[in-house]
Amino acid sequence: MGVSLLSSPAFPRIVIFSFITLYLIPELALAGITRHYKFDIKLQNVTRLCHTKSIVTVNGQFPGPRIVAREGDHLLIKVVNHVQNNISIHWHGIRQLQTGWADGPAYVTQCPIQTSQSYVYNFTIVGQRGTLFWHAHISWLRATVYGPLIILPKRGVPYPFAKPYEEVPIIFGEWWNVNPEAVISQALQTGGGPNVSDAYTINGLPGPLYNCSAKDTFKLKVKPGKTYLLRLINAALNDELFFSIANHSLTVVEADAVYVKPFETNTLLIAPGQTTNVVLKTKPHNPNATFLMTARPYVTGLGTFDNSTVAGILEYESPFHSAASIRNLPLFKPSLPSLNDTSFATNFTNKLRSLASAQFPANVPQKVDGHFFFTIGLGTSPCQQNHTCQGPNGTMFAASINNVSFVQSTTALLQAHFFGQSNGVYTPDFPITPIFPFNYTNNPPNNTMVSNGTKLVVLPFNTSVELIMQDTSILGAESHPLHLHGFNFFVVGQGFGNYDPNKDPSKFNLVDPIERNTVGVPSGGWVAIRFQADNPGVWFMHCHLEIHTSWGLKMAWVVLDGKLPNQKLLPPPADLPKC
Ligand code: C2O
Repeated sequence: MGVSLLSSPAFPRIVIFSFITLYLIPELALAGITRHYKFDIKLQNVTRLCHTKSIVTVNGQFPGPRIVAREGDHLLIKVVNHVQNNISIHWHGIRQLQTGWADGPAYVTQCPIQTSQSYVYNFTIVGQRGTLFWHAHISWLRATVYGPLIILPKRGVPYPFAKPYEEVPIIFGEWWNVNPEAVISQALQTGGGPNVSDAYTINGLPGPLYNCSAKDTFKLKVKPGKTYLLRLINAALNDELFFSIANHSLTVVEADAVYVKPFETNTLLIAPGQTTNVVLKTKPHNPNATFLMTARPYVTGLGTFDNSTVAGILEYESPFHSAASIRNLPLFKPSLPSLNDTSFATNFTNKLRSLASAQFPANVPQKVDGHFFFTIGLGTSPCQQNHTCQGPNGTMFAASINNVSFVQSTTALLQAHFFGQSNGVYTPDFPITPIFPFNYTNNPPNNTMVSNGTKLVVLPFNTSVELIMQDTSILGAESHPLHLHGFNFFVVGQGFGNYDPNKDPSKFNLVDPIERNTVGVPSGGWVAIRFQADNPGVWFMHCHLEIHTSWGLKMAWVVLDGKLPNQKLLPPPADLPKC
């Protein structure tokens, strides 16, 4: 690996036919070009850890193909479903201004694409550049259906850091020896915790620390004295990850496709749904050694988890070393924080600050129109009569926001909203604060049963929202990476224990808070975010730990149209799938 992005295999697939338009309307030249991709969803045999499985893929690739575009480009991605499963694809972190129909979460913005059907995702990348990713957004298919989504700056616009010699996507995933669809369906039937993955992967490869896996190792081949932009993506289903490269420090320059104030670190924390760009400066001279890069989980919950380590190798290219002699070089290993190192997590997230420059300002909402307080956590549901359940005390595991466990609709919420047919599909009464307040981070209440519903919050166009997300201790405090579709938000504050509305707001950072699309609600603590609801549509928000989403830790915001034409949700495309 270590190929330059512009020579990536994805590029020849792009048909550039907007040149003529560009000549005729010069002011549109800045508006970017149209790039076409085709995603054939098909089965592919893949072997890892000596287990061969038929997995759902895009174009037979695992991980899936890279999408590379520039800020301002228009993407047309035709997804054709050749498998038995229903499918839908989400462009994680893309704002989808007015184009909610292309966002992708199944039964939220679209019905899934059924077998032998197709759908063209049609959207423009506006005001964003950096690393994002795409993934399936139905059941647990994203276990194998995911890939990088790289947005280069507009032509001629430099990065706010030295141009790297090479750019390399590093996408973390999880590998199951069994079918992940069987894992989640069994968990939802028994009410117990799901089986955990058998390995973590870097670019689909588990690496040498697993049995029968040494040949499946990601190698980053570098030259001395150069800088490399590593585009880190956590596409794992259920695990936040620590990541480090032995004897090398990394400079963080971007998170969730937003530039940050650069800072150096040996180790990173990256939650599912998050992306981080780091600059790796290689040693000035060939060190005559090789270096492991490893990732393993940050774990705060009480459930079982995959306690293994993925490793890749950083190799210095040298005319003097053959492949065989490289194998004999000394090999250095990084040391990672302990599994539950919450103080590392806090320290690390506190370092993330928006660049907040004239060119890349942090437009933090300074006044708030709508205050929301959501509790985030696990809970239980009753076991069906005459069943035995494997959740806590014979119940079934559940998860909720403000004690509402979200019930997935059988039609698409966005359609129901657009056509004014929400009756019987969803209700606009999602609680804006907990109905039964309790001491969230102390002893949990005796009754841990959740309520169920398809409840949404309805916001007038351009509402500025402040949302406090408070972890609960029900079935154990736990860090939850919450992801919001359709928006970036600013993380204006965080803390441990219960949020104090009298004291905590005075400490908010309204100057250069990190702007992102996925934030970890601290284990046993809270986080405060702000965003401007300037994008009409129905926007999903959920924990990016897939098992928590499956248990109901999700909800959606409806943002109404504004008055101006560019403040309205566009009509649905003709090929929008039907349920
Ligand atoms: Cu990356 Cu709703 O997801």
